[in-house]
Amino acid sequence: MNIPFMRLDRQFAQHKDTIMALCEQVFAHGRVLQGPEVEQLEQQLCEVMGTKEAVAVGSATDALFFALVTANIKPGDKVAVPAMTFVATASPVIRAGATPVFVDAGKHYQPDITKTIELVNSGTIQAVVATHLYGQLFDIAPLAHACRVNGVTLIEDAAQAIGATYNGSGPGAQSFAASLSFDPMKVAGAFGSGGAIVTNEPAVAERIKRLRYHGRDDSRSYQELGYNSQIASIQAAIVGFKLDHLDEWAERRQNIARRYTSILDEISTVTSPLEIPGARHVFHKYVLTAGSDRDRLKKHLSDAGVGTMVHYASPLHKEPLFVEYLNADSSFPEAERLSREALSLPMYPELDDADVDYVCEQLTNFTW
Ligand SMILES: Cc1ncc(COP(=O)(O)O)c(C=O)c1O
Repeated sequence: MNIPFMRLDRQFAQHKDTIMALCEQVFAHGRVLQGPEVEQLEQQLCEVMGTKEAVAVGSATDALFFALVTANIKPGDKVAVPAMTFVATASPVIRAGATPVFVDAGKHYQPDITKTIELVNSGTIQAVVATHLYGQLFDIAPLAHACRVNGVTLIEDAAQAIGATYNGSGPGAQSFAASLSFDPMKVAGAFGSGGAIVTNEPAVAERIKRLRYHGRDDSRSYQELGYNSQIASIQAAIVGFKLDHLDEWAERRQNIARRYTSILDEISTVTSPLEIPGARHVFHKYVLTAGSDRDRLKKHLSDAGVGTMVHYASPLHKEPLFVEYLNADSSFPEAERLSREALSLPMYPELDDADVDYVCEQLTNFTW
C-alpha cells in the first residue's frame, strides 16, 4: 500500500466539479486579481476567525512582514521568535530590518511562554511573533498581558491554525494581528500561494491593504512604498470553498488523530500530540515524538509505503541564515530535542479508513 504524506491529487479528484466551476466563474468575469472572490473571502475569514477585519495577501510570509511594518518595526529593533518553527516565522523580521531573538520551545512545541514573557519584561524587545504550531492554539492571554503592560507588539503566526480556538476565541482576538496561510498543505489550502492578516484594528487592515498593492489608497494615489502581494481570485474562491467545509474536515482530522493516538498511547517511549485543555485542535499536522526510535520508525514506515516528514528537522538557530543573530550564551535544548525526536504522520481528510487502518497496523508492527 502507498500512503503519501499529502494527496492534493485525491483532494482535487473528490471536489473536481466544484473546483472547476469556481475556475470557470473567475475566468468568465475576468477579474483574476482583486476580483469579487477576494472580498468574499475576507468577509468569510472575519466570520470564521471572529475578527473585525481580514486582508488577503500573496502569502503568510508577506502577511507577517506587512504586520511588522504596520507595527512600525524598523532597523535596530528586536523581535522575539520561536526557535522551533518554519523559517517564514523569522525571515520577515530580517526583511523588516530588525533582529530576531530566538526563544526555545516549550511544552506542546509552542514557544516557551515563561522565557518569552521574561524577554518582554526585560524591556529589550519591541515585538513578539508567537507561533501556534500544528493546528492548536496555546493560551496567549499571559503573553498578551505582558506585551500590553510593556508596550510590546504581539503578532500571532497562525499559518497553521485556521479553525483552531482556545477557550472559544481564535488568533487575532488578543494581539495586534495574526497571519494565516493558504499554502496548499494547510487546512484551507489554495492550489497555489496565499495568505491573510486578521485583526480587530481597522487601521491595521487599511494599512496592509495599501502595502499589498504598491502603497495605493482608495483614491488610487500612491501614498508610500508598497509591494505586489495579491491573492489570485481563483485561489480566493477555492480557499472560500474549503472554509465552508472547515468544521467537517477538522472533524475527520480529529478522528484520524484519535485512531493514531489510540495505538501510540500504548507505547511508553512515544508521546502523541498533547491536546491542551480548552483548545480546539484542528490537526493541521499530527506530530508525535518517538525518542531515540524516530529515525528507525521513519524508515520502517517508508519501507511500508507510508510517507512521513519531520517538522522541523533543523531548529532555526541552526540554519545558516540566522547564525549572525545568535547570542553566544543562548541555548535551545528543547527545540533540539524535538528536531531529533519528532515525526509527522499523514494527516488529511482524504485519507480513507483503509489508509488509516494500514498506518495504524504499521505503527503496531514496529519493534519499539
Ligand atoms: C508556521 C508557519 N509560518 C509561516 C508560514 C509561511 O506561509 P506561506 O507559505 O503562506 O508564506 C508557514 C507555511 O508553511 C508556516 O507553517
